[in-house]
Amino acid sequence: MKHIGTKEYVTERLILRPFTEDDAEAVFNNWASDDEVTKYLTWPTHSSLDESRGYVNYCIQQYSTPSRYQWGIELKSTHELIGNISVVSSIEELECMELGWVIGRAYWGNGYMPEASMKVLEVLFDEVGANCVYAGHDVNNPKSGRVMQKIGMKFEGVLRQFGKNNQGIVDVARYSIVKSERSDKH
Ligand SMILES: CC(C)(COP(=O)(O)OP(=O)(O)OC[C@H]1O[C@@H](n2cnc3c(N)ncnc32)[C@H](O)[C@@H]1OP(=O)(O)O)[C@@H](O)C(=O)NCCC(=O)NCCS
Repeated sequence: MKHIGTKEYVTERLILRPFTEDDAEAVFNNWASDDEVTKYLTWPTHSSLDESRGYVNYCIQQYSTPSRYQWGIELKSTHELIGNISVVSSIEELECMELGWVIGRAYWGNGYMPEASMKVLEVLFDEVGANCVYAGHDVNNPKSGRVMQKIGMKFEGVLRQFGKNNQGIVDVARYSIVKSERSDKH
């Protein structure tokens, strides 16, 4: 793969961009402090603005490593920062990358994450040269699975007791899309 780091991209309604230090308040207020949003996530709800500052700083530090991808999702219309999409792990020899995503509750149900993740797929396949992109969700969190379906990922199966999140040890539904499926569409 040819890593390019976290660049800015624009879609119909969204701007995908690197975080800046000024984003901590929006991270805290718009999603990270909400137990309903973090219910099926691997990190605990932020209980203070300082925790969101720490998270934003962690993301910013990652920008010096081109193989790390960590986007903030901004609404084009209001410039509000509403969520995050990232490559949460990658296996270089398989040219394979795993996506993770979160968006503030007030913004759910508008198709924003499908729009953001379609762009990220385009970048990872067409610019970075990934062969496979996958994602997994707690079986009790099917709304994330809906995003995976909407972007053309295929259901691979359930990895039993293979994830740990704020609900404990959980079964994980795994989806993926491979390069050959994307070229089929072009
Ligand atoms: C999963 C998530 C990213 C989906 O983002 P989104 O931009 O809302 O995606 P969509 O608009 O395509 O909606 C996806 C599904 O969410 C569900 N949904 C939509 N609005 C909802 C709402 N207000 N409340 C609860 N669920 C809702 C629907 O099932 C929808 O599927 P449908 O379009 O077939 O009806 C978002 O719900 C989220 O951030 N959840 C919390 C964090 C999380 O679970 N991350 C994934 C961990 S694997």
